[in-house]
Amino acid sequence: MTLSWGIAATGRIARAVGTVIAAHPDMRVAAVGSRDPQRAQLLATELGAPRWHGSYAALAGDPEVQAVYVATPHAQHAEVVELALAAGRAVLCEKPLTHSLAETERLAGLAVASGVFLMEGMWMRFNPLVQLMQLRVRDGHLGQVRSVHASFGFTAAADPAGRLWNPDLGGGALLDLGVYTVDLARLLLGDPDKVEVTGSLAPTGVDAEESLQLTWANGARALLDTSLVATLPGTAVVIGTKGYAELSPTFHAPTRLRLEVAGAEPEEHLLEDRNAGFVGELEEVARCLADGRSQSDVLPLSETIATMRVLEQARGLLDGHG
Ligand SMILES: NC(=O)c1ccc[n+]([C@@H]2O[C@H](COP(=O)([O-])OP(=O)(O)OC[C@H]3O[C@@H](n4cnc5c(N)ncnc54)[C@H](OP(=O)(O)O)[C@@H]3O)[C@@H](O)[C@H]2O)c1
Repeated sequence: MTLSWGIAATGRIARAVGTVIAAHPDMRVAAVGSRDPQRAQLLATELGAPRWHGSYAALAGDPEVQAVYVATPHAQHAEVVELALAAGRAVLCEKPLTHSLAETERLAGLAVASGVFLMEGMWMRFNPLVQLMQLRVRDGHLGQVRSVHASFGFTAAADPAGRLWNPDLGGGALLDLGVYTVDLARLLLGDPDKVEVTGSLAPTGVDAEESLQLTWANGARALLDTSLVATLPGTAVVIGTKGYAELSPTFHAPTRLRLEVAGAEPEEHLLEDRNAGFVGELEEVARCLADGRSQSDVLPLSETIATMRVLEQARGLLDGHG
Protein backbone atom coordinates (compact mmCIF):
# COMPACT_ATOMS: atom_id res chain seq x y z
CA MET A 1 0.00 0.00 0.00
CA THR A 2 1.20 3.51 -0.77
CA LEU A 3 1.60 5.87 2.20
CA SER A 4 0.43 9.41 1.36
CA TRP A 5 2.43 12.17 3.06
CA GLY A 6 1.70 15.82 3.64
CA ILE A 7 4.78 18.00 4.05
CA ALA A 8 4.50 20.93 6.46
CA ALA A 9 7.01 23.70 5.53
CA THR A 10 9.13 24.37 2.47
CA GLY A 11 12.66 24.85 3.88
CA ARG A 12 15.88 22.93 3.46
CA ILE A 13 14.97 19.67 5.18
CA ALA A 14 11.37 19.69 3.93
CA ARG A 15 12.74 19.60 0.38
CA ALA A 16 15.38 16.94 1.23
CA VAL A 17 12.99 14.51 2.97
CA GLY A 18 10.22 15.29 0.47
CA THR A 19 12.59 14.16 -2.28
CA VAL A 20 13.28 10.89 -0.42
CA ILE A 21 9.51 10.30 -0.04
CA ALA A 22 8.84 11.07 -3.71
CA ALA A 23 11.54 8.57 -4.76
CA HIS A 24 10.24 5.78 -2.50
CA PRO A 25 8.29 3.05 -4.35
CA ASP A 26 5.68 2.72 -1.56
CA MET A 27 5.22 6.38 -0.67
CA ARG A 28 4.09 9.61 -2.29
CA VAL A 29 3.88 13.27 -1.44
CA ALA A 30 0.14 13.91 -1.56
CA ALA A 31 0.33 17.59 -0.55
CA VAL A 32 2.58 20.39 0.69
CA GLY A 33 1.55 23.01 3.24
CA SER A 34 3.23 26.35 3.83
CA ARG A 35 2.50 29.74 5.38
CA ASP A 36 2.58 30.95 1.78
CA PRO A 37 0.51 29.24 -0.95
CA GLN A 38 3.05 30.07 -3.67
CA ARG A 39 5.89 28.41 -1.77
CA ALA A 40 3.63 25.40 -1.19
CA GLN A 41 2.80 25.21 -4.90
CA LEU A 42 6.46 25.49 -5.91
CA LEU A 43 7.60 22.63 -3.67
CA ALA A 44 4.52 20.52 -4.50
CA THR A 45 5.29 20.87 -8.20
CA GLU A 46 8.93 19.99 -7.62
CA LEU A 47 7.98 16.85 -5.66
CA GLY A 48 5.19 15.79 -8.04
CA ALA A 49 2.50 16.39 -5.39
CA PRO A 50 -0.99 17.08 -6.79
CA ARG A 51 -2.16 19.37 -3.95
CA TRP A 52 -0.87 22.35 -1.97
CA HIS A 53 -2.18 24.54 0.86
CA GLY A 54 -1.48 28.05 2.15
CA SER A 55 -1.68 27.00 5.80
CA TYR A 56 -0.62 24.07 7.96
CA ALA A 57 -4.21 23.75 9.19
CA ALA A 58 -5.46 23.17 5.64
CA LEU A 59 -2.72 20.58 5.10
CA ALA A 60 -3.70 18.75 8.30
CA GLY A 61 -7.33 18.80 7.17
CA ASP A 62 -6.61 17.40 3.69
CA PRO A 63 -8.36 14.00 3.46
CA GLU A 64 -5.72 12.77 0.98
CA VAL A 65 -3.02 13.06 3.66
CA GLN A 66 -2.41 10.03 5.90
CA ALA A 67 0.79 11.19 7.63
CA VAL A 68 2.22 14.67 8.14
CA TYR A 69 5.98 15.32 8.11
CA VAL A 70 6.69 18.46 10.15
CA ALA A 71 9.75 20.50 9.11
CA THR A 72 9.19 23.94 10.62
CA PRO A 73 11.79 25.43 13.07
CA HIS A 74 11.90 23.67 16.48
CA ALA A 75 9.77 26.20 18.36
CA GLN A 76 7.12 26.04 15.59
CA HIS A 77 6.84 22.21 15.60
CA ALA A 78 4.23 21.97 18.35
CA GLU A 79 1.53 24.06 16.65
CA VAL A 80 1.72 21.91 13.51
CA VAL A 81 1.92 18.61 15.40
CA GLU A 82 -1.18 19.59 17.38
CA LEU A 83 -3.13 20.43 14.21
CA ALA A 84 -2.18 17.10 12.64
CA LEU A 85 -2.93 15.01 15.74
CA ALA A 86 -6.30 16.75 16.16
CA ALA A 87 -7.13 15.85 12.54
CA GLY A 88 -6.15 12.22 13.22
CA ARG A 89 -3.09 12.28 10.94
CA ALA A 90 0.00 10.30 11.92
CA VAL A 91 2.98 12.59 12.55
CA LEU A 92 6.71 12.37 11.91
CA CYS A 93 8.18 15.57 13.37
CA GLU A 94 11.74 16.79 12.85
CA LYS A 95 14.23 16.71 15.70
CA PRO A 96 14.06 17.98 18.36
CA LEU A 97 10.35 17.24 18.81
CA THR A 98 9.98 20.63 20.53
CA HIS A 99 12.24 23.28 22.09
CA SER A 100 11.48 22.40 25.73
CA LEU A 101 10.90 19.45 28.01
CA ALA A 102 7.46 20.72 29.07
CA GLU A 103 6.31 21.05 25.44
CA THR A 104 7.73 17.63 24.56
CA GLU A 105 5.86 16.02 27.45
CA ARG A 106 2.70 17.90 26.52
CA LEU A 107 2.78 16.73 22.87
CA ALA A 108 3.57 13.16 23.91
CA GLY A 109 0.57 13.31 26.26
CA LEU A 110 -1.68 14.58 23.45
CA ALA A 111 -0.54 11.79 21.13
CA VAL A 112 -1.07 9.09 23.74
CA ALA A 113 -4.50 10.48 24.69
CA SER A 114 -5.61 10.60 21.04
CA GLY A 115 -4.04 7.26 20.09
CA VAL A 116 -2.57 8.90 16.97
CA PHE A 117 0.97 7.97 15.86
CA LEU A 118 3.74 10.44 16.75
CA MET A 119 7.52 10.01 16.34
CA GLU A 120 10.47 12.40 16.38
CA GLY A 121 12.52 12.42 13.16
CA MET A 122 15.70 11.24 14.87
CA TRP A 123 16.94 9.62 11.64
CA MET A 124 20.27 8.62 13.24
CA ARG A 125 18.48 5.79 15.07
CA PHE A 126 17.36 4.31 11.75
CA ASN A 127 20.77 4.33 10.07
CA PRO A 128 21.78 0.65 9.56
CA LEU A 129 25.36 1.26 10.79
CA VAL A 130 24.14 2.91 14.00
CA GLN A 131 21.80 -0.05 14.47
CA LEU A 132 24.65 -2.51 13.83
CA MET A 133 26.86 -0.75 16.36
CA GLN A 134 24.03 -0.82 18.89
CA LEU A 135 23.73 -4.60 18.34
CA ARG A 136 27.48 -5.07 18.78
CA VAL A 137 27.37 -3.12 22.04
CA ARG A 138 24.37 -5.14 23.27
CA ASP A 139 25.96 -8.50 22.42
CA GLY A 140 29.10 -7.53 24.38
CA HIS A 141 31.45 -7.50 21.37
CA LEU A 142 33.16 -4.33 22.68
CA GLY A 143 33.05 -5.49 26.31
CA GLN A 144 31.57 -3.02 28.78
CA VAL A 145 31.19 0.48 27.32
CA ARG A 146 33.37 2.89 29.28
CA SER A 147 33.26 6.00 27.14
CA VAL A 148 31.46 7.65 24.22
CA HIS A 149 33.15 10.55 22.42
CA ALA A 150 31.07 12.41 19.86
CA SER A 151 31.08 15.84 18.27
CA PHE A 152 28.88 17.80 15.90
CA GLY A 153 29.63 21.39 14.93
CA PHE A 154 30.00 23.83 12.08
CA THR A 155 30.48 27.56 11.66
CA ALA A 156 26.97 28.83 11.14
CA ALA A 157 26.45 32.05 9.18
CA ALA A 158 25.89 35.00 11.52
CA ASP A 159 22.17 35.60 11.07
CA PRO A 160 20.52 36.67 14.35
CA ALA A 161 17.05 36.23 12.80
CA GLY A 162 17.80 32.76 11.38
CA ARG A 163 16.60 29.60 13.09
CA LEU A 164 20.01 28.63 14.52
CA TRP A 165 20.51 31.91 16.41
CA ASN A 166 16.98 33.17 17.00
CA PRO A 167 15.57 32.20 20.43
CA ASP A 168 12.00 32.58 19.09
CA LEU A 169 12.69 29.79 16.59
CA GLY A 170 14.35 27.52 19.18
CA GLY A 171 17.95 28.46 18.27
CA GLY A 172 21.16 27.16 19.86
CA ALA A 173 23.69 24.39 19.39
CA LEU A 174 22.25 22.04 22.01
CA LEU A 175 18.78 21.80 20.47
CA ASP A 176 20.01 21.57 16.89
CA LEU A 177 23.13 19.39 17.27
CA GLY A 178 23.38 18.29 20.90
CA VAL A 179 20.16 16.36 20.41
CA TYR A 180 22.18 13.89 18.30
CA THR A 181 25.20 13.57 20.62
CA VAL A 182 23.06 13.14 23.74
CA ASP A 183 20.69 10.71 22.02
CA LEU A 184 23.64 8.58 20.87
CA ALA A 185 25.10 8.46 24.39
CA ARG A 186 21.70 7.57 25.88
CA LEU A 187 21.10 4.95 23.18
CA LEU A 188 24.26 3.13 24.30
CA LEU A 189 24.37 3.85 28.03
CA GLY A 190 20.85 4.88 29.14
CA ASP A 191 20.05 7.89 31.29
CA PRO A 192 23.14 9.52 32.80
CA ASP A 193 23.48 9.98 36.56
CA LYS A 194 25.27 13.30 36.24
CA VAL A 195 25.32 16.08 33.65
CA GLU A 196 28.12 18.68 33.52
CA VAL A 197 28.64 21.38 30.91
CA THR A 198 31.01 24.15 29.93
CA GLY A 199 30.17 26.51 27.09
CA SER A 200 29.29 29.98 25.92
CA LEU A 201 26.24 31.92 24.81
CA ALA A 202 25.73 33.96 21.63
CA PRO A 203 24.72 37.65 21.70
CA THR A 204 21.12 36.57 20.92
CA GLY A 205 21.11 34.58 24.18
CA VAL A 206 21.10 31.10 22.64
CA ASP A 207 23.94 28.67 23.38
CA ALA A 208 26.75 28.91 20.80
CA GLU A 209 28.99 26.00 21.83
CA GLU A 210 29.52 23.57 24.67
CA SER A 211 31.25 20.46 25.95
CA LEU A 212 29.08 18.06 27.93
CA GLN A 213 30.34 15.41 30.28
CA LEU A 214 27.72 12.83 31.17
CA THR A 215 28.58 10.22 33.78
CA TRP A 216 26.98 6.96 34.89
CA ALA A 217 27.20 5.36 38.33
CA ASN A 218 29.34 2.50 36.96
CA GLY A 219 32.04 4.98 35.88
CA ALA A 220 31.04 5.14 32.20
CA ARG A 221 31.08 8.62 30.69
CA ALA A 222 30.28 10.49 27.50
CA LEU A 223 32.26 13.48 26.26
CA LEU A 224 30.14 15.41 23.81
CA ASP A 225 31.03 18.59 21.89
CA THR A 226 28.65 20.79 19.94
CA SER A 227 29.25 24.11 18.25
CA LEU A 228 27.75 26.71 15.94
CA VAL A 229 31.06 28.65 15.87
CA ALA A 230 33.60 25.95 14.92
CA THR A 231 33.77 22.97 12.61
CA LEU A 232 34.14 19.77 14.64
CA PRO A 233 35.13 16.29 13.41
CA GLY A 234 31.56 14.96 13.53
CA THR A 235 32.62 11.40 14.28
CA ALA A 236 31.76 9.21 17.30
CA VAL A 237 33.98 6.69 19.05
CA VAL A 238 32.54 4.15 21.48
CA ILE A 239 35.18 2.68 23.76
CA GLY A 240 34.60 -0.62 25.52
CA THR A 241 36.79 -2.82 27.72
CA LYS A 242 37.54 -5.12 24.73
CA GLY A 243 37.85 -2.58 21.93
CA TYR A 244 36.28 0.37 20.19
CA ALA A 245 33.92 1.28 17.38
CA GLU A 246 34.00 4.40 15.23
CA LEU A 247 31.14 5.91 13.21
CA SER A 248 32.25 8.25 10.43
CA PRO A 249 32.42 10.58 8.59
CA THR A 250 29.41 11.88 10.54
CA PHE A 251 28.08 9.76 13.39
CA HIS A 252 24.47 10.89 12.89
CA ALA A 253 24.46 9.80 9.24
CA PRO A 254 27.44 7.44 9.01
CA THR A 255 28.56 5.60 5.91
CA ARG A 256 31.40 3.79 7.70
CA LEU A 257 31.57 1.71 10.89
CA ARG A 258 34.93 0.41 12.03
CA LEU A 259 35.36 -2.05 14.91
CA GLU A 260 38.72 -2.79 16.49
CA VAL A 261 38.53 -5.50 19.13
CA ALA A 262 41.48 -7.18 20.82
CA GLY A 263 42.08 -10.67 19.41
CA ALA A 264 39.59 -10.24 16.52
CA GLU A 265 40.03 -9.20 12.88
CA PRO A 266 39.25 -5.50 12.44
CA GLU A 267 35.83 -5.02 10.87
CA GLU A 268 34.77 -2.33 8.45
CA HIS A 269 31.16 -1.89 7.30
CA LEU A 270 30.29 0.57 4.56
CA LEU A 271 27.00 2.08 3.49
CA GLU A 272 26.46 3.76 0.13
CA ASP A 273 23.51 5.93 0.96
CA ARG A 274 24.01 8.71 3.50
CA ASN A 275 20.23 9.18 3.47
CA ALA A 276 19.57 5.63 4.70
CA GLY A 277 18.39 7.02 8.04
CA PHE A 278 15.70 9.08 6.31
CA VAL A 279 14.45 6.04 4.40
CA GLY A 280 14.57 4.04 7.64
CA GLU A 281 12.52 6.51 9.68
CA LEU A 282 9.92 6.88 6.90
CA GLU A 283 9.61 3.11 6.57
CA GLU A 284 9.28 2.81 10.35
CA VAL A 285 6.25 5.12 10.22
CA ALA A 286 4.73 3.01 7.42
CA ARG A 287 5.39 -0.22 9.37
CA CYS A 288 3.88 1.14 12.59
CA LEU A 289 0.76 2.38 10.79
CA ALA A 290 0.34 -0.95 8.98
CA ASP A 291 0.62 -2.73 12.36
CA GLY A 292 -1.82 -0.31 14.01
CA ARG A 293 0.82 0.98 16.45
CA SER A 294 0.75 4.57 17.73
CA GLN A 295 4.45 4.63 18.74
CA SER A 296 7.69 3.22 17.40
CA ASP A 297 9.62 0.63 19.42
CA VAL A 298 12.87 1.98 17.97
CA LEU A 299 12.09 5.51 19.07
CA PRO A 300 9.22 5.63 21.57
CA LEU A 301 8.16 9.03 22.92
CA SER A 302 9.72 8.15 26.29
CA GLU A 303 13.15 8.17 24.59
CA THR A 304 12.53 11.55 22.98
CA ILE A 305 11.49 12.93 26.38
CA ALA A 306 14.54 11.45 28.14
CA THR A 307 16.98 12.99 25.65
CA MET A 308 15.22 16.36 25.95
CA ARG A 309 15.49 16.13 29.74
CA VAL A 310 19.31 15.94 29.48
CA LEU A 311 19.42 18.80 26.95
CA GLU A 312 17.31 21.01 29.19
CA GLN A 313 19.43 20.16 32.23
CA ALA A 314 22.59 21.08 30.30
CA ARG A 315 21.04 24.34 29.12
CA GLY A 316 20.00 25.17 32.68
CA LEU A 317 23.56 24.58 33.90
CA LEU A 318 24.92 26.89 31.18
CA ASP A 319 22.50 29.57 32.35
CA GLY A 320 23.66 29.01 35.92
CA HIS A 321 20.40 27.61 37.25
CA GLY A 322 20.77 23.91 36.59
N1 LIG B 1 17.08 15.55 10.13
C1 LIG B 1 17.97 16.40 9.66
O1 LIG B 1 19.02 16.04 9.14
C2 LIG B 1 17.70 17.86 9.76
C3 LIG B 1 18.50 18.73 9.05
C4 LIG B 1 18.19 20.07 9.10
C5 LIG B 1 17.13 20.49 9.89
N2 LIG B 1 16.38 19.61 10.59
C6 LIG B 1 15.25 20.07 11.41
O2 LIG B 1 14.20 20.50 10.56
C7 LIG B 1 13.61 21.70 11.04
C8 LIG B 1 13.69 22.75 9.94
O3 LIG B 1 15.04 22.98 9.61
P1 LIG B 1 15.46 23.59 8.17
O4 LIG B 1 16.94 23.59 8.17
O5 LIG B 1 14.73 22.95 7.08
O6 LIG B 1 14.95 25.11 8.36
P2 LIG B 1 14.62 26.18 7.24
O7 LIG B 1 15.36 25.90 5.99
O8 LIG B 1 14.81 27.51 7.90
O9 LIG B 1 13.07 25.95 6.94
C9 LIG B 1 12.09 26.08 7.92
C10 LIG B 1 10.74 26.24 7.24
O10 LIG B 1 9.75 26.30 8.26
C11 LIG B 1 8.68 27.15 7.86
N3 LIG B 1 8.38 28.05 8.98
C12 LIG B 1 7.26 28.02 9.75
N4 LIG B 1 7.30 28.96 10.69
C13 LIG B 1 8.46 29.63 10.52
C14 LIG B 1 9.04 30.74 11.18
N5 LIG B 1 8.43 31.37 12.20
N6 LIG B 1 10.24 31.18 10.76
C15 LIG B 1 10.89 30.57 9.74
N7 LIG B 1 10.37 29.51 9.07
C16 LIG B 1 9.16 29.05 9.45
C17 LIG B 1 9.11 27.86 6.59
O11 LIG B 1 8.40 27.27 5.51
P3 LIG B 1 6.97 27.86 5.05
O12 LIG B 1 6.81 29.21 5.63
O13 LIG B 1 7.02 27.85 3.56
O14 LIG B 1 5.96 26.91 5.58
C18 LIG B 1 10.58 27.52 6.45
O15 LIG B 1 10.98 27.35 5.11
C19 LIG B 1 14.35 22.06 12.33
O16 LIG B 1 13.60 21.61 13.44
C20 LIG B 1 15.65 21.25 12.25
O17 LIG B 1 16.14 20.79 13.51
C21 LIG B 1 16.64 18.31 10.52
